[in-house]
Amino acid sequence: MNKNLILNLFKGETTRVPIWFLRQAGRHIPEYFEIRKKEENFIKFCLSENLIVQSTKLPLKYYDLDAAIIFSDILMIPWAMERKVRFCKNFGPMLEPLIPEETEIVQKVPIGSKLEPLKNSILILRKDLPKSISIIGFAGAPWTLACYMIEGKGSKDFINTRKALWSSNKWFMKLLNTLVIYVAEKLEMQAKAGADILMLFDSWSHMIPNHFFKDCAIDPISKIVAILRSKKIFLPIIGFPFKSGSNIEKYSYESNVDCIALDWSVDLNWAKTYINKEIVIQGNLDPASLVPINSKHLKNSVLSILDLMSDKRFIFNVGHGLTPDTKIENVRKVIDIVRNYKR
Ligand code: CP3
Repeated sequence: MNKNLILNLFKGETTRVPIWFLRQAGRHIPEYFEIRKKEENFIKFCLSENLIVQSTKLPLKYYDLDAAIIFSDILMIPWAMERKVRFCKNFGPMLEPLIPEETEIVQKVPIGSKLEPLKNSILILRKDLPKSISIIGFAGAPWTLACYMIEGKGSKDFINTRKALWSSNKWFMKLLNTLVIYVAEKLEMQAKAGADILMLFDSWSHMIPNHFFKDCAIDPISKIVAILRSKKIFLPIIGFPFKSGSNIEKYSYESNVDCIALDWSVDLNWAKTYINKEIVIQGNLDPASLVPINSKHLKNSVLSILDLMSDKRFIFNVGHGLTPDTKIENVRKVIDIVRNYKR
């Protein structure tokens, strides 16, 4: 077997625990802002091969990691669907809200040609990076994309999205099915360009009313997995149903993903009992633990995750993205503990 810890894990090897971090490429490394300065418009930044390659590689310069996640954003799909998308400083994404019923959802244009720079940067990265580093391609899950498209921005409760789900259910399901096609297309493109692993971020799955969890979180993912498999793409797929509580159990059996990423609120003892034992688990250190300097709890928290997962196929990660105030020395400390851990 080659030295790629993550791919070997998916083949069944469990000797060493691989490690990478959600949102490792972005904002907590000061050098990122030097690269970021080269293109003010974030969409254009995500369309520059050179800047994607530099940002993707940046964390590997600072840390001993097993994966590089492609620098892009989940909102590049709505952008490629010709929705208006902007990123505003100190506010986050802003989209032209999609009005239920009134809007023709289905765009005839394939998005692949618009995201060509993403494909080209993966081709470059696969040649540049050693085979031991897994390249992770990703997309937003259909529900989370629908949240941003309908609401037009981040929200504490996504009330307009939830209202649309109840009042225009047929329209909503058509929107999710349209997004299934686009997400599958974006993942297929990344796989064909050389990504080793694919990840689906359902960052707002905890906003789904329980009644609709299967329709909105599980079925779209199992459809995406089925499309990819029908196209002979057999790469490992990681699903991330953020903060979805006990629905994570159903998701782990029915979505057909190969790995489930757990958020920082999940009790790993619960996970060991209830989650599908056939799949890999990833997670779930609280990213906030990487902010304070000299926290007395960090080492114990990392060790307790490692101890609990010592008999599982497990990838060490945070339970949500690193925040901009994450300290580099804390990330290094965690990597050190994981690398020196003996099962
Ligand atoms: O390691 C990485 O950071 C890789 C690249 C990456 C970005 N976004 C770059 C980015 C990834 C994997 C994402 C995913 C993403 N984007 C998610 C899912 C993961 C999660 O955090 O739940 C979501 C919900 C988004 C939507 C999004 N994009 C928001 C809410 C924001 C603004 C707030 C924020 O997190 O900064 C963005 C902008 C964005 N995406 C930035 C970066 C580095 C900051 C923009 C900048 O530098 O100007």
